[in-house]
Amino acid sequence: MPIRSIIIGTGSHVPQRVVTNKDLASRVDTTDEWIRTRTGIIQRHISNDQETNSYLATQSARKALDMAGVRPQDLDLIIVGTMSPDMPMPSVACLVQNELGAKKAGAFDLYAACTSFLYALSVADKFVRCNSRMKILVIGSEVLSRVTNWEDRNTCVIFGDGAGAAVITGTKEDRGILSTHLHSDGSLGELLIIKGLGTAFPVSHENLEKGWQYIQMQGREVFKHAIKAMESAAWEAMEANGWNGDDVDLLFSHQANIRIINFLGEKLGLPKEKIFINIHKYGNTSAASIPIALDEANRTGLLTPGLRILMVAFGGGFTWGSVAMCW
Ligand code: ACO
Repeated sequence: MPIRSIIIGTGSHVPQRVVTNKDLASRVDTTDEWIRTRTGIIQRHISNDQETNSYLATQSARKALDMAGVRPQDLDLIIVGTMSPDMPMPSVACLVQNELGAKKAGAFDLYAACTSFLYALSVADKFVRCNSRMKILVIGSEVLSRVTNWEDRNTCVIFGDGAGAAVITGTKEDRGILSTHLHSDGSLGELLIIKGLGTAFPVSHENLEKGWQYIQMQGREVFKHAIKAMESAAWEAMEANGWNGDDVDLLFSHQANIRIINFLGEKLGLPKEKIFINIHKYGNTSAASIPIALDEANRTGLLTPGLRILMVAFGGGFTWGSVAMCW
């Protein structure tokens, strides 16, 4: 039997403060009804000053390590998928490594926007396949509220903060990660962009006035690409594993928009009970959305041995991909 990667612990953490649609309607020209019907979001959690990306990531990691029964000092690698790090350097992964006291672990961040967790899981999978004893902490963590223009109704109603984590190791049993597929199309990067927080357009009064420090999204265009890309990534994973719709027991789609999730479910022929949804509680938490969902499903006992899981994500870059696994 080949070596496969399994998830032996999950954890998640969201900020305490809840911001409802009604709260937002008092700030920008929107309504609870518009947000619910166009996105499926009812509320989101928004960080305070102390709840940084690395703080949320560390909290989620502690819970995942606890469940896995793995000590921080036994970790070999920490990968954090994010696009809203505390700072460009050091990485969130290094900040987490220090907080946990994961003395022998390598640590790096991975930037693939909302697809970051699946990219990170896929990288971890390759390491584990080379050495089944490795213990890898994979985190998706975001504080998008800090890069959101709270006057822009096109974006501020969508995003939320949070983190989710998973501890990965190897097994020779016939379960675990079965396939990973990653894709990108940089030609469409301008449709979903934070232009001004890097080195090409450094922070300046001029660039701040243009709002380049914030997420800018052409929502309708992103929507169109997201549904196409996610559907094709889902079929690709199913074909690779010889699955048809009936073989998928639970779909974890990136929680970007309820209409995208439902569309994907319909295209795959999945009944509602096979589609995990928590966007109403958290909004779009980008890289954190799939690991938060996984952890919720895990802790409520939905993830039973042998369950066939399909994870699909899409995000800025553009990036998209899938991970299929048998729990
Ligand atoms: N409240 C009220 N009206 C609004 C709001 C709001 N919050 N936001 C936009 N509108 C208006 C628009 O101004 C527009 O009005 P107009 O027709 O007078 O011009 C109208 O509503 C329709 O706007 P659309 O942008 O076409 O609305 P749409 O139905 O597409 O919903 C949304 C917008 C929710 C952003 C949707 O396009 C979407 O979910 N896009 C995909 C997001 C996504 O998948 N992101 C991927 C990953 S995210 C990442 O990587 C970080």
